[in-house]
Amino acid sequence: MTTELFDYPLQDATGTTCIAQAWAKVPPTLHKDQKNQIIQAIKSELVRQNAVLVAHYYVDGDIQDLAWETGGFVADSLEMARFGKNHPAQKLIVAGVKFMGESAKILSPEKTVLMPDLDATCSLDLGCPADDFTKFCDAHPDREVVVYANTSAAVKARADWMVTSSCALAIVHHLKEQGKKILWAPDRHLGRYIQDQTGADMLLWEGHCIVHDEFKAIELETLKAKHPNAMILVHPESPSHVVDLADVVGSTSAMIKAVVEGTAQEYIVATDKGILHRMRQLAPGKTLIEAPTAGNSATCKSCAHCPWMAMNGLQGILNCLTEQSGEIIINEDVRLKAKICIEKMLDFTVNNPELLAKAQHGFVKNIGAA
Ligand code: 13P
Ligand code: SF4
Repeated sequence: MTTELFDYPLQDATGTTCIAQAWAKVPPTLHKDQKNQIIQAIKSELVRQNAVLVAHYYVDGDIQDLAWETGGFVADSLEMARFGKNHPAQKLIVAGVKFMGESAKILSPEKTVLMPDLDATCSLDLGCPADDFTKFCDAHPDREVVVYANTSAAVKARADWMVTSSCALAIVHHLKEQGKKILWAPDRHLGRYIQDQTGADMLLWEGHCIVHDEFKAIELETLKAKHPNAMILVHPESPSHVVDLADVVGSTSAMIKAVVEGTAQEYIVATDKGILHRMRQLAPGKTLIEAPTAGNSATCKSCAHCPWMAMNGLQGILNCLTEQSGEIIINEDVRLKAKICIEKMLDFTVNNPELLAKAQHGFVKNIGAA
């Protein structure tokens, strides 16, 4: 199989890494009184403006709690898109990364969608510029174009399907059954995992998530030896050697479900550590252990926390409400094109619950332990 190589350097013209720039924008820790003041102000503005807060599992625990307390929602990227579309509020505050705010706007153009920091992006999105991606698609017109949600609106506008980690396996399996050949972008690890599981003919873009790419199989084996009864939960954006060690491979919500429903006492978690907040709330008696990112090949990025997710702060949310800052604006032509592949995914997930459940089951490699 031919594999197109495209690895975005994640640097700007000055040689500064995007990651360093993102960490530099992470809001400072707030003093307790200051934090409470901001939380109260957000609560009253959300009510006054009939707005709702939607957050991803990777953002700060205070933001997740605030979303739940104010009638909002904390979820994976598929459920966030669904919630934003179906909620009656005309103003959505999206705490997550840019593609999540864009998906909300693409699906609900009549709503105002605001984000705490519009620079909160994703290495997969950065690593798949629309122009290069268009050339890649043009070179392979015989393939069905399937893109991961972690892409720009312009990339989605060129795709036939959008998928998230919750439904990627079911949708690619469905396309394979129809005899389709797939062009996949941008996450190479997720693409390879789906290829292995479905046997589909997939041409992969070589993008990666800087957070999940750092999990280390050798160190994970050492940790597992110290905790032989622990279940290993892995997000499929992780390298294949790490995925090979997993008991459960799945989206953020599948990983949470595994902790809540699992009979094991200990869980080793290979994804952004922001997820531990929700896991602790839903399964307070369980022991959660962060999967190792450090080791001989560790880099300065090895902290299992997404610098772009970390850019979401309480002050940023308040600014959305008081200054209407961080508004997502999408070119209407791009939006209309991008909407087709997102709605196709949403329709598929609603109409094929049994296929989704079956594919999700395929993610669970060691059901006995779950
Ligand atoms: P989920 O779709 O599983 O929430 O993942 C989104 C993401 O960005 C993972 O890094
Ligand atoms: Fe993107 Fe990785 Fe951050 Fe998820 S954790 S938003 S895939 S950089």
